[in-house]
Amino acid sequence: MSRPTRRLPARLAVVLALALTGTACGGSRGGGGVVHGTPGSAGVHDPYFPKAGNGGYDVSHYALTLDYTPDTRRLTGRAVITARATQDLSAFDLDLAGLHVDSVTVEGQKAAFSRAGQELTVRPHDALAKGETYRTTVRYSGTPRTLTDPDGSEEGWLPTADGAVGLGEPVGSMAWFPCDNHPSDKATYDLTVTVPEGLQAVSNGELTEQHTAHGRTAYTWHTPQPMASYLATVDIGHFTITRTTGPHGLPIVSAVDPTEAEAGKKAVAKIADVIGWEEYNFGPFPFSSTGAIIDRPHDSGFALETQNRPFFHGAPDTAHLVHELAHEWYGDSVTPKSWRDMWLNEGFATYAEWLYDEDHGGDTAQQIFMDYYKGDDESIWAFPPAKPSSAAHISDSPVYERGAMVLHKIRQKVGDDTFYDIIQGWAAAHRHGTASTADFTAYVEKAAPGKDFKEIWKDWLYGDGKPDHP
Ligand code: TRP
Ligand code: ZN
Repeated sequence: MSRPTRRLPARLAVVLALALTGTACGGSRGGGGVVHGTPGSAGVHDPYFPKAGNGGYDVSHYALTLDYTPDTRRLTGRAVITARATQDLSAFDLDLAGLHVDSVTVEGQKAAFSRAGQELTVRPHDALAKGETYRTTVRYSGTPRTLTDPDGSEEGWLPTADGAVGLGEPVGSMAWFPCDNHPSDKATYDLTVTVPEGLQAVSNGELTEQHTAHGRTAYTWHTPQPMASYLATVDIGHFTITRTTGPHGLPIVSAVDPTEAEAGKKAVAKIADVIGWEEYNFGPFPFSSTGAIIDRPHDSGFALETQNRPFFHGAPDTAHLVHELAHEWYGDSVTPKSWRDMWLNEGFATYAEWLYDEDHGGDTAQQIFMDYYKGDDESIWAFPPAKPSSAAHISDSPVYERGAMVLHKIRQKVGDDTFYDIIQGWAAAHRHGTASTADFTAYVEKAAPGKDFKEIWKDWLYGDGKPDHP
Protein backbone atom coordinates (compact mmCIF):
# COMPACT_ATOMS: atom_id res chain seq x y z
CA MET A 1 0.00 0.00 0.00
CA SER A 2 2.71 2.50 0.84
CA ARG A 3 4.76 1.86 -2.29
CA PRO A 4 6.61 5.02 -3.30
CA THR A 5 5.04 6.72 -6.28
CA ARG A 6 6.41 8.34 -9.38
CA ARG A 7 5.40 11.59 -7.84
CA LEU A 8 8.11 11.95 -5.23
CA PRO A 9 10.97 12.86 -7.53
CA ALA A 10 8.82 15.51 -9.19
CA ARG A 11 8.06 16.99 -5.79
CA LEU A 12 11.73 17.11 -4.90
CA ALA A 13 12.35 18.90 -8.17
CA VAL A 14 9.72 21.45 -7.23
CA VAL A 15 11.24 22.05 -3.84
CA LEU A 16 14.60 22.56 -5.50
CA ALA A 17 13.19 24.85 -8.16
CA LEU A 18 11.44 26.91 -5.51
CA ALA A 19 14.55 27.06 -3.38
CA LEU A 20 16.57 28.25 -6.35
CA THR A 21 14.15 30.89 -7.53
CA GLY A 22 13.16 31.87 -4.04
CA THR A 23 9.47 31.92 -5.03
CA ALA A 24 7.13 31.36 -2.10
CA CYS A 25 4.40 29.39 -3.73
CA GLY A 26 2.21 26.43 -2.86
CA GLY A 27 1.96 25.17 -6.41
CA SER A 28 3.59 22.01 -7.66
CA ARG A 29 5.30 21.30 -10.93
CA GLY A 30 3.41 19.86 -13.85
CA GLY A 31 4.82 19.45 -17.34
CA GLY A 32 7.24 22.33 -16.88
CA GLY A 33 5.87 25.23 -14.87
CA VAL A 34 4.53 25.69 -11.38
CA VAL A 35 0.93 24.51 -11.11
CA HIS A 36 -1.61 26.59 -9.28
CA GLY A 37 -4.79 24.99 -10.55
CA THR A 38 -8.40 25.73 -9.82
CA PRO A 39 -10.91 23.81 -7.67
CA GLY A 40 -12.71 20.87 -9.28
CA SER A 41 -16.47 21.34 -9.49
CA ALA A 42 -18.79 20.10 -6.72
CA GLY A 43 -20.93 18.03 -9.10
CA VAL A 44 -20.97 16.73 -12.65
CA HIS A 45 -24.24 18.36 -13.75
CA ASP A 46 -26.34 15.26 -13.42
CA PRO A 47 -29.86 16.38 -14.44
CA TYR A 48 -31.43 14.71 -11.37
CA PHE A 49 -28.66 14.73 -8.77
CA PRO A 50 -26.61 17.86 -9.47
CA LYS A 51 -24.31 17.43 -6.45
CA ALA A 52 -23.53 13.79 -7.18
CA GLY A 53 -19.99 13.18 -8.39
CA ASN A 54 -17.26 15.78 -8.66
CA GLY A 55 -15.24 17.48 -11.35
CA GLY A 56 -11.51 17.55 -11.98
CA TYR A 57 -10.49 13.94 -11.52
CA ASP A 58 -11.25 10.31 -12.33
CA VAL A 59 -11.00 7.60 -9.70
CA SER A 60 -9.36 4.32 -10.73
CA HIS A 61 -9.36 2.48 -7.39
CA TYR A 62 -10.90 2.55 -3.93
CA ALA A 63 -9.17 0.69 -1.10
CA LEU A 64 -11.60 0.72 1.82
CA THR A 65 -10.76 -0.56 5.28
CA LEU A 66 -13.79 -0.56 7.54
CA ASP A 67 -14.58 -1.71 11.04
CA TYR A 68 -18.21 -2.01 12.12
CA THR A 69 -19.98 -3.10 15.27
CA PRO A 70 -23.74 -3.62 14.85
CA ASP A 71 -24.45 -3.23 18.60
CA THR A 72 -23.08 0.31 18.72
CA ARG A 73 -23.61 1.09 15.02
CA ARG A 74 -20.15 2.56 15.01
CA LEU A 75 -18.11 2.58 11.83
CA THR A 76 -14.48 3.52 11.53
CA GLY A 77 -13.07 3.72 8.04
CA ARG A 78 -10.07 4.50 5.96
CA ALA A 79 -10.50 5.16 2.26
CA VAL A 80 -7.45 5.27 0.01
CA ILE A 81 -8.62 6.70 -3.31
CA THR A 82 -6.40 6.57 -6.38
CA ALA A 83 -7.37 9.15 -8.96
CA ARG A 84 -6.01 11.00 -11.98
CA ALA A 85 -6.40 14.76 -12.23
CA THR A 86 -8.25 15.84 -15.38
CA GLN A 87 -7.33 19.48 -14.84
CA ASP A 88 -4.78 21.39 -12.77
CA LEU A 89 -6.37 21.14 -9.33
CA SER A 90 -5.95 23.41 -6.34
CA ALA A 91 -8.77 21.57 -4.55
CA PHE A 92 -11.28 18.83 -5.24
CA ASP A 93 -14.42 17.42 -3.66
CA LEU A 94 -15.45 13.96 -2.55
CA ASP A 95 -19.04 13.09 -1.66
CA LEU A 96 -19.61 12.05 1.95
CA ALA A 97 -22.91 12.32 3.85
CA GLY A 98 -22.59 12.42 7.63
CA LEU A 99 -19.76 10.74 9.57
CA HIS A 100 -16.81 12.56 11.09
CA VAL A 101 -13.69 13.12 9.04
CA ASP A 102 -10.64 12.61 11.22
CA SER A 103 -7.92 13.39 8.69
CA VAL A 104 -7.15 13.69 5.01
CA THR A 105 -3.82 13.26 3.25
CA VAL A 106 -2.94 13.58 -0.43
CA GLU A 107 0.17 11.73 -1.54
CA GLY A 108 1.04 11.22 2.12
CA GLN A 109 0.95 14.90 2.97
CA LYS A 110 -1.61 16.33 5.34
CA ALA A 111 -4.32 18.14 3.40
CA ALA A 112 -6.75 20.82 4.55
CA PHE A 113 -10.42 19.94 4.24
CA SER A 114 -13.83 21.43 4.86
CA ARG A 115 -17.37 20.16 4.66
CA ALA A 116 -20.63 21.57 3.35
CA GLY A 117 -23.56 19.19 2.97
CA GLN A 118 -22.36 16.14 1.06
CA GLU A 119 -19.29 17.92 -0.27
CA LEU A 120 -15.98 17.11 1.40
CA THR A 121 -13.58 19.65 -0.09
CA VAL A 122 -9.92 18.64 0.01
CA ARG A 123 -7.18 21.17 -0.50
CA PRO A 124 -3.90 19.32 -1.11
CA HIS A 125 -0.69 20.82 0.22
CA ASP A 126 0.53 21.15 -3.37
CA ALA A 127 -1.70 21.68 -6.37
CA LEU A 128 -2.11 18.65 -8.62
CA ALA A 129 -1.14 18.78 -12.26
CA LYS A 130 -3.52 17.66 -15.00
CA GLY A 131 -2.76 14.03 -15.86
CA GLU A 132 -1.16 13.29 -12.51
CA THR A 133 -2.19 10.17 -10.59
CA TYR A 134 -2.50 10.82 -6.86
CA ARG A 135 -3.65 9.06 -3.74
CA THR A 136 -5.99 10.55 -1.17
CA THR A 137 -6.44 8.94 2.23
CA VAL A 138 -9.53 9.82 4.26
CA ARG A 139 -9.88 8.57 7.83
CA TYR A 140 -13.40 8.80 9.19
CA SER A 141 -15.71 7.48 11.87
CA GLY A 142 -19.19 7.68 13.34
CA THR A 143 -22.65 6.21 12.85
CA PRO A 144 -23.44 5.99 9.15
CA ARG A 145 -26.72 7.52 8.06
CA THR A 146 -29.72 6.14 6.32
CA LEU A 147 -30.57 8.55 3.51
CA THR A 148 -34.07 9.25 2.21
CA ASP A 149 -34.36 9.66 -1.55
CA PRO A 150 -36.60 12.14 -3.36
CA ASP A 151 -39.03 9.23 -3.93
CA GLY A 152 -39.14 8.48 -0.20
CA SER A 153 -37.14 5.24 -0.30
CA GLU A 154 -34.34 4.62 2.17
CA GLU A 155 -30.82 3.81 1.11
CA GLY A 156 -27.25 4.38 2.19
CA TRP A 157 -26.54 2.51 5.41
CA LEU A 158 -29.44 0.37 6.62
CA PRO A 159 -29.25 -1.35 9.99
CA THR A 160 -30.73 -4.85 9.58
CA ALA A 161 -32.16 -7.41 12.00
CA ASP A 162 -28.69 -8.81 12.69
CA GLY A 163 -26.21 -6.30 11.27
CA ALA A 164 -26.33 -3.69 8.54
CA VAL A 165 -26.24 -3.34 4.76
CA GLY A 166 -24.89 -0.63 2.48
CA LEU A 167 -27.12 -0.03 -0.56
CA GLY A 168 -26.32 2.90 -2.80
CA GLU A 169 -28.78 3.51 -5.62
CA PRO A 170 -28.81 6.28 -6.58
CA VAL A 171 -26.62 8.21 -4.13
CA GLY A 172 -26.42 6.24 -0.85
CA SER A 173 -22.84 4.97 -1.03
CA MET A 174 -21.58 8.31 0.25
CA ALA A 175 -23.19 7.37 3.58
CA TRP A 176 -20.45 4.79 4.18
CA PHE A 177 -17.41 5.87 2.17
CA PRO A 178 -16.15 9.07 0.57
CA CYS A 179 -16.38 8.77 -3.20
CA ASP A 180 -16.88 10.33 -6.59
CA ASN A 181 -20.50 9.37 -6.25
CA HIS A 182 -21.71 9.28 -9.83
CA PRO A 183 -22.14 6.35 -12.25
CA SER A 184 -19.95 8.10 -14.84
CA ASP A 185 -16.82 7.40 -12.75
CA LYS A 186 -16.25 3.66 -12.33
CA ALA A 187 -13.31 2.17 -10.44
CA THR A 188 -11.99 -1.12 -9.05
CA TYR A 189 -12.34 -1.81 -5.33
CA ASP A 190 -10.67 -3.56 -2.43
CA LEU A 191 -12.76 -3.71 0.71
CA THR A 192 -11.71 -5.08 4.08
CA VAL A 193 -14.41 -5.12 6.75
CA THR A 194 -13.78 -6.15 10.33
CA VAL A 195 -16.82 -7.25 12.35
CA PRO A 196 -17.40 -9.06 15.65
CA GLU A 197 -16.44 -12.74 15.43
CA GLY A 198 -19.45 -14.88 14.50
CA LEU A 199 -20.79 -12.38 11.97
CA GLN A 200 -20.13 -12.49 8.23
CA ALA A 201 -19.45 -9.57 5.90
CA VAL A 202 -20.39 -10.15 2.27
CA SER A 203 -19.56 -7.80 -0.57
CA ASN A 204 -18.94 -7.50 -4.31
CA GLY A 205 -16.22 -9.35 -6.19
CA GLU A 206 -14.33 -12.23 -4.62
CA LEU A 207 -13.41 -13.01 -1.03
CA THR A 208 -9.62 -13.08 -0.98
CA GLU A 209 -8.90 -13.25 2.74
CA GLN A 210 -10.59 -13.98 6.04
CA HIS A 211 -8.84 -13.61 9.34
CA THR A 212 -9.99 -13.79 12.96
CA ALA A 213 -8.07 -12.31 15.87
CA HIS A 214 -9.05 -10.94 19.28
CA GLY A 215 -12.73 -11.70 18.77
CA ARG A 216 -13.06 -9.91 15.44
CA THR A 217 -13.07 -11.24 11.89
CA ALA A 218 -11.76 -9.31 8.89
CA TYR A 219 -13.15 -10.15 5.44
CA THR A 220 -11.36 -8.89 2.35
CA TRP A 221 -13.24 -8.64 -0.94
CA HIS A 222 -11.65 -7.73 -4.25
CA THR A 223 -13.55 -6.28 -7.22
CA PRO A 224 -11.27 -6.43 -10.26
CA GLN A 225 -13.72 -5.01 -12.82
CA PRO A 226 -14.71 -1.34 -12.77
CA MET A 227 -17.75 -0.64 -10.60
CA ALA A 228 -19.99 2.40 -10.16
CA SER A 229 -20.19 3.59 -6.54
CA TYR A 230 -23.96 2.95 -6.41
CA LEU A 231 -23.33 -0.77 -7.00
CA ALA A 232 -20.94 -1.23 -4.08
CA THR A 233 -22.32 -3.13 -1.11
CA VAL A 234 -21.38 -4.71 2.15
CA ASP A 235 -23.86 -6.80 4.09
CA ILE A 236 -23.01 -7.70 7.68
CA GLY A 237 -24.97 -10.33 9.58
CA HIS A 238 -25.54 -14.05 9.96
CA PHE A 239 -25.45 -15.87 6.63
CA THR A 240 -25.17 -19.35 5.28
CA ILE A 241 -22.57 -19.14 2.54
CA THR A 242 -22.79 -21.51 -0.42
CA ARG A 243 -20.23 -21.97 -3.16
CA THR A 244 -21.10 -23.65 -6.45
CA THR A 245 -20.24 -23.07 -10.08
CA GLY A 246 -22.25 -22.00 -13.09
CA PRO A 247 -21.61 -22.08 -16.85
CA HIS A 248 -17.93 -22.67 -17.80
CA GLY A 249 -16.95 -22.84 -14.13
CA LEU A 250 -18.15 -19.36 -13.13
CA PRO A 251 -17.94 -19.25 -9.32
CA ILE A 252 -21.31 -18.66 -7.64
CA VAL A 253 -20.96 -17.48 -4.05
CA SER A 254 -24.18 -16.71 -2.23
CA ALA A 255 -25.11 -15.60 1.28
CA VAL A 256 -28.52 -16.44 2.70
CA ASP A 257 -29.92 -15.18 5.99
CA PRO A 258 -30.88 -18.26 8.04
CA THR A 259 -34.51 -17.09 8.32
CA GLU A 260 -34.75 -17.26 4.49
CA ALA A 261 -32.99 -20.63 4.32
CA GLU A 262 -35.59 -22.70 2.52
CA ALA A 263 -36.77 -20.30 -0.18
CA GLY A 264 -33.25 -18.87 -0.38
CA LYS A 265 -31.77 -22.26 -1.17
CA LYS A 266 -34.19 -22.70 -4.08
CA ALA A 267 -33.40 -19.27 -5.46
CA VAL A 268 -29.65 -19.85 -5.17
CA ALA A 269 -30.03 -23.19 -6.95
CA LYS A 270 -31.57 -21.40 -9.94
CA ILE A 271 -28.75 -18.90 -10.46
CA ALA A 272 -26.67 -21.15 -12.73
CA ASP A 273 -29.62 -21.77 -15.06
CA VAL A 274 -30.60 -18.13 -15.22
CA ILE A 275 -27.00 -17.06 -15.94
CA GLY A 276 -26.82 -19.73 -18.66
CA TRP A 277 -29.99 -18.44 -20.31
CA GLU A 278 -28.82 -14.83 -20.00
CA GLU A 279 -25.40 -15.62 -21.48
CA TYR A 280 -27.13 -17.25 -24.44
CA ASN A 281 -29.19 -14.11 -24.97
CA PHE A 282 -26.95 -11.26 -23.78
CA GLY A 283 -23.41 -12.62 -24.30
CA PRO A 284 -20.63 -13.62 -21.89
CA PHE A 285 -21.19 -12.87 -18.18
CA PRO A 286 -19.14 -9.71 -17.58
CA PHE A 287 -17.71 -10.45 -14.11
CA SER A 288 -15.40 -13.00 -12.50
CA SER A 289 -17.97 -14.45 -10.11
CA THR A 290 -21.64 -14.11 -9.23
CA GLY A 291 -24.16 -15.17 -6.59
CA ALA A 292 -26.80 -13.49 -4.48
CA ILE A 293 -27.09 -11.92 -1.06
CA ILE A 294 -30.45 -12.78 0.44
CA ASP A 295 -31.29 -10.88 3.59
CA ARG A 296 -34.65 -10.52 5.36
CA PRO A 297 -37.75 -8.94 3.76
CA HIS A 298 -37.79 -5.93 6.10
CA ASP A 299 -34.07 -5.22 5.91
CA SER A 300 -34.64 -2.87 2.95
CA GLY A 301 -37.49 -1.65 0.78
CA PHE A 302 -36.02 -3.00 -2.46
CA ALA A 303 -33.63 -5.41 -4.11
CA LEU A 304 -30.57 -4.01 -5.82
CA GLU A 305 -28.31 -5.22 -8.60
CA THR A 306 -25.16 -4.77 -6.50
CA GLN A 307 -22.27 -5.64 -8.78
CA ASN A 308 -21.82 -9.31 -9.64
CA ARG A 309 -23.80 -10.35 -6.53
CA PRO A 310 -27.27 -8.78 -6.31
CA PHE A 311 -28.91 -8.04 -2.97
CA PHE A 312 -32.45 -9.28 -2.22
CA HIS A 313 -34.73 -8.36 0.67
CA GLY A 314 -36.13 -11.86 1.05
CA ALA A 315 -35.71 -14.82 -1.29
CA PRO A 316 -36.59 -13.76 -4.86
CA ASP A 317 -38.91 -15.55 -7.28
CA THR A 318 -37.49 -16.47 -10.68
CA ALA A 319 -38.65 -13.27 -12.41
CA HIS A 320 -36.93 -11.17 -9.79
CA LEU A 321 -33.75 -13.22 -10.08
CA VAL A 322 -33.84 -12.84 -13.87
CA HIS A 323 -34.30 -9.08 -13.45
CA GLU A 324 -31.43 -8.44 -11.03
CA LEU A 325 -29.03 -10.78 -12.83
CA ALA A 326 -29.87 -9.15 -16.20
CA HIS A 327 -28.62 -5.91 -14.64
CA GLU A 328 -25.15 -7.45 -14.47
CA TRP A 329 -24.99 -6.85 -18.24
CA TYR A 330 -27.29 -3.82 -18.39
CA GLY A 331 -26.47 -1.48 -15.52
CA ASP A 332 -23.40 -2.98 -13.91
CA SER A 333 -21.19 -3.70 -16.92
CA VAL A 334 -22.82 -1.12 -19.24
CA THR A 335 -23.56 1.64 -16.76
CA PRO A 336 -25.68 4.72 -17.47
CA LYS A 337 -23.72 7.95 -17.94
CA SER A 338 -26.29 9.86 -15.92
CA TRP A 339 -29.42 9.17 -13.87
CA ARG A 340 -31.47 10.30 -16.84
CA ASP A 341 -30.35 7.15 -18.66
CA MET A 342 -31.90 4.85 -16.04
CA TRP A 343 -34.19 3.20 -18.58
CA LEU A 344 -31.06 1.60 -20.09
CA ASN A 345 -30.94 -0.32 -16.78
CA GLU A 346 -34.56 -0.89 -15.93
CA GLY A 347 -36.02 -1.16 -19.42
CA PHE A 348 -33.49 -3.89 -20.26
CA ALA A 349 -33.89 -5.78 -16.97
CA THR A 350 -37.68 -5.67 -17.35
CA TYR A 351 -37.49 -6.81 -20.96
CA ALA A 352 -35.25 -9.66 -19.79
CA GLU A 353 -38.20 -10.83 -17.63
CA TRP A 354 -40.51 -10.72 -20.66
CA LEU A 355 -38.05 -12.66 -22.81
CA TYR A 356 -37.55 -15.22 -20.05
CA ASP A 357 -41.32 -15.76 -19.82
CA GLU A 358 -41.58 -16.14 -23.56
CA ASP A 359 -38.78 -18.73 -23.61
CA HIS A 360 -40.20 -20.69 -20.68
CA GLY A 361 -43.75 -21.35 -21.77
CA GLY A 362 -45.25 -18.13 -20.42
CA ASP A 363 -46.74 -15.17 -22.28
CA THR A 364 -44.81 -13.87 -25.26
CA ALA A 365 -43.19 -10.47 -25.05
CA GLN A 366 -45.73 -9.33 -27.65
CA GLN A 367 -48.59 -10.37 -25.33
CA ILE A 368 -47.04 -8.64 -22.35
CA PHE A 369 -46.42 -5.53 -24.47
CA MET A 370 -50.08 -5.49 -25.57
CA ASP A 371 -51.32 -6.06 -22.02
CA TYR A 372 -49.49 -2.92 -20.94
CA TYR A 373 -50.59 -1.00 -24.02
CA LYS A 374 -54.25 -1.87 -23.51
CA GLY A 375 -54.23 -1.95 -19.71
CA ASP A 376 -55.87 0.68 -17.51
CA ASP A 377 -52.72 1.60 -15.62
CA GLU A 378 -52.20 5.10 -16.99
CA SER A 379 -49.14 5.73 -14.80
CA ILE A 380 -46.98 3.98 -17.37
CA TRP A 381 -47.56 6.96 -19.75
CA ALA A 382 -46.76 9.62 -17.12
CA PHE A 383 -43.47 10.61 -18.80
CA PRO A 384 -41.14 9.31 -21.50
CA PRO A 385 -38.62 6.62 -20.45
CA ALA A 386 -35.63 8.72 -21.49
CA LYS A 387 -36.84 11.81 -19.61
CA PRO A 388 -38.18 11.09 -16.11
CA SER A 389 -40.21 14.04 -14.81
CA SER A 390 -38.03 14.49 -11.71
CA ALA A 391 -35.63 12.73 -9.35
CA ALA A 392 -38.65 11.47 -7.40
CA HIS A 393 -39.74 9.42 -10.43
CA ILE A 394 -36.59 7.74 -11.74
CA SER A 395 -37.83 4.33 -10.62
CA ASP A 396 -41.43 4.62 -11.80
CA SER A 397 -43.11 2.37 -14.38
CA PRO A 398 -42.33 4.54 -17.45
CA VAL A 399 -38.64 3.75 -16.82
CA TYR A 400 -39.29 0.02 -16.32
CA GLU A 401 -42.25 -1.15 -18.40
CA ARG A 402 -42.33 1.61 -20.98
CA GLY A 403 -38.54 1.27 -21.25
CA ALA A 404 -39.05 -2.42 -22.03
CA MET A 405 -41.68 -1.41 -24.61
CA VAL A 406 -39.03 0.65 -26.43
CA LEU A 407 -36.92 -2.49 -26.77
CA HIS A 408 -39.92 -4.44 -27.98
CA LYS A 409 -40.61 -1.79 -30.63
CA ILE A 410 -37.01 -2.15 -31.84
CA ARG A 411 -37.43 -5.92 -31.97
CA GLN A 412 -40.65 -5.56 -34.01
CA LYS A 413 -38.83 -3.29 -36.45
CA VAL A 414 -35.64 -5.36 -36.99
CA GLY A 415 -36.71 -8.97 -36.31
CA ASP A 416 -35.25 -11.40 -33.82
CA ASP A 417 -31.84 -12.03 -35.39
CA THR A 418 -30.86 -8.39 -35.58
CA PHE A 419 -32.50 -7.67 -32.24
CA TYR A 420 -30.36 -10.22 -30.39
CA ASP A 421 -27.31 -8.95 -32.28
CA ILE A 422 -28.16 -5.49 -31.02
CA ILE A 423 -28.60 -6.35 -27.35
CA GLN A 424 -25.49 -8.56 -27.32
CA GLY A 425 -23.46 -6.09 -29.36
CA TRP A 426 -24.51 -3.24 -27.10
CA ALA A 427 -23.32 -5.16 -24.02
CA ALA A 428 -20.03 -5.98 -25.78
CA ALA A 429 -19.44 -2.48 -27.15
CA HIS A 430 -19.72 -0.79 -23.75
CA ARG A 431 -18.57 -3.67 -21.54
CA HIS A 432 -17.29 -2.29 -18.20
CA GLY A 433 -18.00 1.25 -19.41
CA THR A 434 -20.71 3.86 -19.35
CA ALA A 435 -23.22 4.83 -22.02
CA SER A 436 -26.06 7.26 -22.63
CA THR A 437 -29.41 7.05 -24.39
CA ALA A 438 -27.90 8.92 -27.36
CA ASP A 439 -25.13 6.28 -27.53
CA PHE A 440 -27.84 3.62 -27.61
CA THR A 441 -29.96 5.13 -30.37
CA ALA A 442 -26.81 5.71 -32.46
CA TYR A 443 -25.77 2.08 -31.86
CA VAL A 444 -29.17 0.73 -32.96
CA GLU A 445 -29.23 2.89 -36.09
CA LYS A 446 -25.78 1.64 -37.07
CA ALA A 447 -26.70 -1.98 -36.42
CA ALA A 448 -29.77 -1.84 -38.69
CA PRO A 449 -28.79 0.58 -41.44
CA GLY A 450 -31.82 0.15 -43.68
CA LYS A 451 -34.35 0.85 -40.94
CA ASP A 452 -35.90 4.08 -39.81
CA PHE A 453 -36.19 4.44 -36.03
CA LYS A 454 -37.28 8.09 -35.93
CA GLU A 455 -40.86 7.33 -34.97
CA ILE A 456 -39.84 4.89 -32.24
CA TRP A 457 -37.51 7.40 -30.67
CA LYS A 458 -40.04 10.23 -31.02
CA ASP A 459 -43.14 8.38 -29.78
CA TRP A 460 -41.81 5.71 -27.45
CA LEU A 461 -38.50 6.95 -26.05
CA TYR A 462 -38.79 10.73 -25.85
CA GLY A 463 -42.49 11.41 -26.46
CA ASP A 464 -45.02 12.52 -23.85
CA GLY A 465 -48.18 10.49 -23.38
CA LYS A 466 -49.38 7.21 -24.81
CA PRO A 467 -48.34 6.57 -28.42
CA ASP A 468 -51.31 6.38 -30.79
CA HIS A 469 -50.42 2.94 -32.13
CA PRO A 470 -49.01 -0.10 -30.32
N1 TRP B 1 -32.53 -0.97 -9.32
C1 TRP B 1 -33.39 -1.64 -8.41
C2 TRP B 1 -34.03 -2.82 -9.13
O1 TRP B 1 -34.32 -2.74 -10.29
C3 TRP B 1 -34.49 -0.79 -7.87
C4 TRP B 1 -34.04 0.41 -7.15
C5 TRP B 1 -33.60 0.45 -5.90
C6 TRP B 1 -33.94 1.73 -7.64
N2 TRP B 1 -33.24 1.72 -5.55
C7 TRP B 1 -33.44 2.51 -6.58
C8 TRP B 1 -34.21 2.34 -8.84
C9 TRP B 1 -33.21 3.87 -6.74
C10 TRP B 1 -33.96 3.68 -8.98
C11 TRP B 1 -33.47 4.44 -7.94
O2 TRP B 1 -34.27 -3.84 -8.55
ZN1 ZN C 1 -33.99 -3.16 -11.96
